[in-house]
Amino acid sequence: MARMTRTTTSAILTIFLIPLPFTVLKVTKIRKVVKGVVILGIESSCDETAAAVVRDRTLLSNIIAGQEVHRKYGGVVPELASRAHQQNIVPVVDRALAEAGIDRIGIDAIAFTRGPGLLGSLLVGTSFAKGYSAALGIPLIEVNHLQAHILVHFLKLEGERLSEPVFPFLCLLVSGGHTQLVKVLDHHRMEILGRTIDDAAGEAFDKCAKIMGLPYPGGPHIDRLASEGDATRFSFSKPSVEGFDYSFSGLKTSFLYFIRDRLREDPSFIDSNRADLAASLQRTIVEILMNKLRRAVKKTGIRQIALAGGVSANAGLREAIRREAAGRGWELFIPPVPYTTDNAAMIAITGYYRYLEGAFATEEISPVARIYF
Ligand code: KG4
Ligand code: ZN
Repeated sequence: MARMTRTTTSAILTIFLIPLPFTVLKVTKIRKVVKGVVILGIESSCDETAAAVVRDRTLLSNIIAGQEVHRKYGGVVPELASRAHQQNIVPVVDRALAEAGIDRIGIDAIAFTRGPGLLGSLLVGTSFAKGYSAALGIPLIEVNHLQAHILVHFLKLEGERLSEPVFPFLCLLVSGGHTQLVKVLDHHRMEILGRTIDDAAGEAFDKCAKIMGLPYPGGPHIDRLASEGDATRFSFSKPSVEGFDYSFSGLKTSFLYFIRDRLREDPSFIDSNRADLAASLQRTIVEILMNKLRRAVKKTGIRQIALAGGVSANAGLREAIRREAAGRGWELFIPPVPYTTDNAAMIAITGYYRYLEGAFATEEISPVARIYF
């Protein structure tokens, strides 16, 4: 805001103090004043190099470069991830600006993921953003990746009229690294009601998928297989954890032992039961997630419910939460699938709200691997 005010003042001064070439100056300066706030967002917390541009809340471009290099290792290799980010970041940003039709001098601030994530990966995005900010003389904005997953609900997408949650709302944030029940008070203040005490929901999907011999990340494979399977065929253990906290490591172990025992009797057990295994596993994960969410709604009385994070792409979870919402009168907010997994649009929109607050970082800022809110 401070920046816009300065721009407005300088535009007025320029118009009045310099008579020539009057019309050109007037047009260019006034366009700058009314154009809205343009934020370039950078995401590099894990294995996606992403850049996006928003003008105010409207998404102008959203580019994501995935990293195939990890596939053969069955998980993300941190060192390879940072190297791939280094290769990808410049072309990804260039493309995001080109698709948005924005020139570098049209950017008002650059927002980047400070954490949580892989330190080496975060470092690439952070260093890039710091360099860009210094070179262009624009503010630098740090973004918490987890908050950004939640604030994706406030993006305006062209051609879509999405309704947005009203504060305070509850958000079930389920990703590969985190599982949290969050009370969202406003765009900046968020309170964690519960979180996983061990594995995240996405990790449970990925680790169990790996046990079944599926590629990384396994969540989408389980989801696809589950649509053809019998979800009641097998039962796996569910945790009993106090309060609103979650636990998924027991489920993974129970799944591992179950498969190991069945393979002893029948070496083709996985192949002949793939879909039923996936469907039963998915049902169990979804039930664990839904139980705590239901309790949190009851305890807080908040009925505006949002879903966020990579696992919110899961068809079983989306269907279960829709059913629950319809039965209990909750107002539900589910992001479109491309905005559930890691992207820079969520970083740019969060950067926009921090820009309005004037919450700028200094050039001394460094990334942090583990942070909450
Ligand atoms: O939010 P995200 O992209 O990255 C983190 O911040 O962790 O989430 C990635 C996680 C992975 O564990 C992936 O398997 C899971 O989201 N995921 C899914 C689906 N799509 C992505 N899990 C279940 N079903 C899906 N359709
Ligand atoms: Zn994420």
